Amino acid sequence: MALPAERSQSRLLQTLAGQALTPPPIWLMRQAGRYLPEYRAVRARTGSFLELCYTPALAAEVTLQPIRRYGFDAAILFSDILVVPDALGQRVDFVEGEGPRLEPVRSQADLARLNGDATRTKFARVCETVARLRQDLPNGTALIGFCGAPWTVATYMAEGGGSPDQRAARLWAYRDPAGFGRLVEMLVEASIDYLAMQAEAGADVLQIFDTWAGSLPPREFETWVVEPTRRIVAALRAKHPQVPIIGFPRGVGRKIGRYVAETGVQGVGCDTGIDVEHMRSLAGSGQVAVQGNLDPMALIAGGEALRAQTEALLEGLAGVPHIFNLGHGILPETPVEHVAWLVERVRGQTRS
Ligand code: CP3
Repeated sequence: MALPAERSQSRLLQTLAGQALTPPPIWLMRQAGRYLPEYRAVRARTGSFLELCYTPALAAEVTLQPIRRYGFDAAILFSDILVVPDALGQRVDFVEGEGPRLEPVRSQADLARLNGDATRTKFARVCETVARLRQDLPNGTALIGFCGAPWTVATYMAEGGGSPDQRAARLWAYRDPAGFGRLVEMLVEASIDYLAMQAEAGADVLQIFDTWAGSLPPREFETWVVEPTRRIVAALRAKHPQVPIIGFPRGVGRKIGRYVAETGVQGVGCDTGIDVEHMRSLAGSGQVAVQGNLDPMALIAGGEALRAQTEALLEGLAGVPHIFNLGHGILPETPVEHVAWLVERVRGQTRS
């Protein structure tokens, strides 16, 4: 597919259109965040984390910080997947050092308290950040918008926060599939609206984060991960065919092939557990570009571990459409020099 002229310099978009580039484009999941001193400085003078997400000038500033420092091929909108439950009227707080806390939604009565009346007003604030960023970014730097996949967002909504086993959502889905299905349905619709608004505001690529896709057995994976994602992708492709979509079904192992075939994504994020040969065969099918999958822990460790893993990815994925990235988000204790080394190595300026 031909790219529009103003985006033809984007190496990320070229890769998502099926080209194998040397060097591959690079960006890192959660590239704006606490490992950057300039992020911590902005964060220290803002009130709540959600306020940062809903203040376009500040959200745009922190989105640009990693671009200024490292010149990544893509910027990812600074926001959070939990903006959607917040916009649906669920109480969402980010507790310092503890992560998100939500008022749990586990029954029909809880569901009845949610509604879509205010979502567009809240989404519009995030989209103002997108519009500012598209103005401020160079043409060659793609802007990635995102949302959480319905399953993953539902796990936070039902649990009231993060959990090791996503127990509340899994039990709800088994005990009352119709009721849980209504929550997922609400999230599919809100996510389609949200992503479409981001595309209209200037996002070049959209990523769907499914952090907990791996906690379901095959049949439930089909129902709660693949099918809702397929519907979101189909709706977005109909409205914005020029905006490619990257799915990130974390922890699904060999089911990743089915995810790609059935959801229709143009790019697939691979977690650290997917081996390079499997990534190569996925990308070699010509159907999808692969993204990933350096271990975030190796980026903290640096040295030989980082060097060897970086080389293995560059060599193993040469000649297929590959977006260099981590297998999960960058961790707060990551040394900034290790990120600088990685970007230089991927771009071929540091010989090992
Ligand atoms: O740079 C970027 O990638 C853009 C911004 C972004 C954030 N969260 C900012 C953030 C993105 C894309 C996310 C996605 C996200 N948020 C996911 C999916 C990806 C993944 O990592 O699995 C999930 C599960 C969430 C929910 C969430 N938000 C959690 C569990 C936490 C607490 C844990 C943590 O990392 O702090 C957050 C808070 C959050 N989201 C922070 C940032 C920078 C840290 C909060 C702070 O600065 O005080």
